[in-house]
Amino acid sequence: MCGIVGYVGNKPVLDILLDGLEQLEYRGYDSSGIAVQCKDKINVYKAVGKLKALREELASHAYEISKSTVGIGHIRWATHGAPTVVNAHPHTCNCGKLVLVHNGIIENYKELKAKLEAEGCVFKSQTDTETVAHLVAQKYALTHDLTKAVALAVKEIEGAFALEIMHNDEPNKLVITKRNAPLVIGVAPDEYYAASDIPAFIKHTNKAIYLSDDQIATLTADSLEIIDKNGCKVEPKIELLPWEPVALSKMGYKHFMLKEIHEQPDVIRNILSDKLKSPEENVILDEVKLTKETLRNLNRIQVIACGTSLHAAMIGKYIIEDLCGIPVDVEASSEYIYRKTVTDAHTLVIGVSQSGETADTLTAIKQSKARGSHILIITNRPDSAMAREADSLLSVNAGIEVSVAATKSYIAQLTSFYLLALYMAEIKGTYPVSELTNFKHEMLMLPQKIEQILSNMENIRECARKYSATRDFIYIARGINYPTALEGALKLKEISYINATGYPAGELKHGPIAMLDESMPVLSILMKGAVYEKLLSNSEEAKARNARMIALTNSQDKKLDELFDYIIRVPDVAEYLSPIIAIVPLQLIAYYIAEFLGKDVDQPRNLAKSVTVE
Ligand code: M6R
Repeated sequence: MCGIVGYVGNKPVLDILLDGLEQLEYRGYDSSGIAVQCKDKINVYKAVGKLKALREELASHAYEISKSTVGIGHIRWATHGAPTVVNAHPHTCNCGKLVLVHNGIIENYKELKAKLEAEGCVFKSQTDTETVAHLVAQKYALTHDLTKAVALAVKEIEGAFALEIMHNDEPNKLVITKRNAPLVIGVAPDEYYAASDIPAFIKHTNKAIYLSDDQIATLTADSLEIIDKNGCKVEPKIELLPWEPVALSKMGYKHFMLKEIHEQPDVIRNILSDKLKSPEENVILDEVKLTKETLRNLNRIQVIACGTSLHAAMIGKYIIEDLCGIPVDVEASSEYIYRKTVTDAHTLVIGVSQSGETADTLTAIKQSKARGSHILIITNRPDSAMAREADSLLSVNAGIEVSVAATKSYIAQLTSFYLLALYMAEIKGTYPVSELTNFKHEMLMLPQKIEQILSNMENIRECARKYSATRDFIYIARGINYPTALEGALKLKEISYINATGYPAGELKHGPIAMLDESMPVLSILMKGAVYEKLLSNSEEAKARNARMIALTNSQDKKLDELFDYIIRVPDVAEYLSPIIAIVPLQLIAYYIAEFLGKDVDQPRNLAKSVTVE
């Protein structure tokens, strides 16, 4: 889950590569590097840490690179080997003439490495990638043709890869290829870009070619040739991207995360304006192709996702089962793909992913597609690999999310699940029309309610300050807000590194209660509804063990004042929609705690926004 970028054309390459890498920093940020064609040789520059470190390293080389118009770059999220200069990309072969960058994982690298070492290759790094550099160089020695060498080498490679390769004996040329990893070519007059994702070049061109698996493209400033795995020529299909060059600005907020939390009311408004015109009208989901016939033939639904998207899916289960009466299983994609799952033409499989390229979810989707299931993808990236696998698409339209911690995309996924459940209930006729109308009416009020929370954040900030010194944090809830507890805990641990856990409150007494004492904060997500009284009793049990009790509630009940040390009140909301309201203060608590602790909120350690390795 790294980012790669390449350019061949007539413009100075340095800024193109560095800007491109900056746009790909969401994919990793532990080290970076570039290789550029300088006169008669390819120079490589690398640095450990964020891109800033590479910029600093390059400052003293600006002159020697200033005339270069061809190059490749890489931003790394370490998988094999620590983040060091030696392990940073680009990697080179023995003689240094062949240089490449790679995103993905070479699964058979140990076997390849042993063989290459026995044949005289000297490895400098601990990476899987370096094997590819040596392997392609070996094939080049046989063919003296970079494209042919790449074609031969990839036949021996197993795993996922997007590769960009240069060779000193074929100057001003890039050869690129991919398998199970994203790679897209940007097309402009007399120049080509190649990158893991569109933001890397969108400010230069909105014309793109999506490379398919095992295709190889050979790019020079004025030529592009694509071949498939049999060596046959492929006619390139140029697509016009529905993208504007967006300036990714914090708009005065200290962090992208805070900005994105504040965008949530508009994200919901934006989704509803297209899909839910008024409470009396049916939901419109243009790209969802679930007919009455398809729905009648369904036995069940499987939802697969990771991380925050998995939590949105868990709430989706509650709501779909309730409104549509269809059994729903939710499973982490990483578990789903390594067992014999029972999926067939009578199962609707829903993949949920902000990025649309999470490797585990993508693999799971491909597996269930092969078994004949209808595939519905809920994603923020309608141009992603996952969207391309979809029979039905629900585009969540949250806009670009920069902060690694997902916030507005989660709210958008929840809103989309509610709309999907309403849509299916309307087609199937499984719920009284008047109740569906009430439901839709309540949904339309959500943006204002979130705005109310955001306009009164002092209490939440104070709560964060009070509990910021804790080492552990427990979130409890029941029913539809159990996933909210999981999501609140995930937000806190990923940006503050505090050990936070979400529990279904009824489970406390089956083990976790042993951890409670006067040092442990327990935050109870106490929203009015079917499980309110039950959760109150569970909170009493925690209080009796001297835990530091916090309530997040829409209740005005006076007896809460005795039970809880700290209370955060949110606007009243129907129970089934309460996850959308309850998550906002939890996002803010996580944000402010991380801020108080001086953490890198938008780019937390060890994480990346897109997880493209299984
Ligand atoms: O792009 P996806 O939604 O498929 O990503 C899944 C997870 O990697 C992601 O939600 C991750 O857990 C976030 N950092 C959570 O904030």
